[in-house]
Amino acid sequence: MKETELSIRVFPDPVLAKVAKPVKEITSHHRKILSEMAQLMYEASGVGLAAPQVGISEALIVVDAGSGLYKLINPRIIIQEGTQANEEGCLSVPGITIKVKRAKKITLCAMDESAKEIIIEAEDLLACVFQHELDHLNGKLIIDYGELPKPKK
Ligand code: NI
Repeated sequence: MKETELSIRVFPDPVLAKVAKPVKEITSHHRKILSEMAQLMYEASGVGLAAPQVGISEALIVVDAGSGLYKLINPRIIIQEGTQANEEGCLSVPGITIKVKRAKKITLCAMDESAKEIIIEAEDLLACVFQHELDHLNGKLIIDYGELPKPKK
């Protein structure tokens, strides 16, 4: 499959609800997707984007929360501490924000574009954005955190 032009998928596109596949071997194809994802993220003034959001069900994310661009492959959280809750938006769920409770501080393990394993420590906004993008890889959106109507007593 060759992706030439990617676009941001919007809820309820079924690709957003799928669990993304881990990348077994990083190729120029993945590097190209990551750079196109970064371009789309910046064009949309977003702070993060996950591959399912561009219709690709693979474990790739890009994040830039103001401290530089991360392009990560197969990211996973290995340590999490504390809690924070922020109003979050999502390029795939335009027009709404939802308050989501997440870990305040995380340590991530991932691969970079050259297949090198890297460890990233993040807190506050950056930690929140990483967790949001990891949710996308698990088919989870901010609306899945929405409060359900309380049952009547
Ligand atoms: Ni999102």
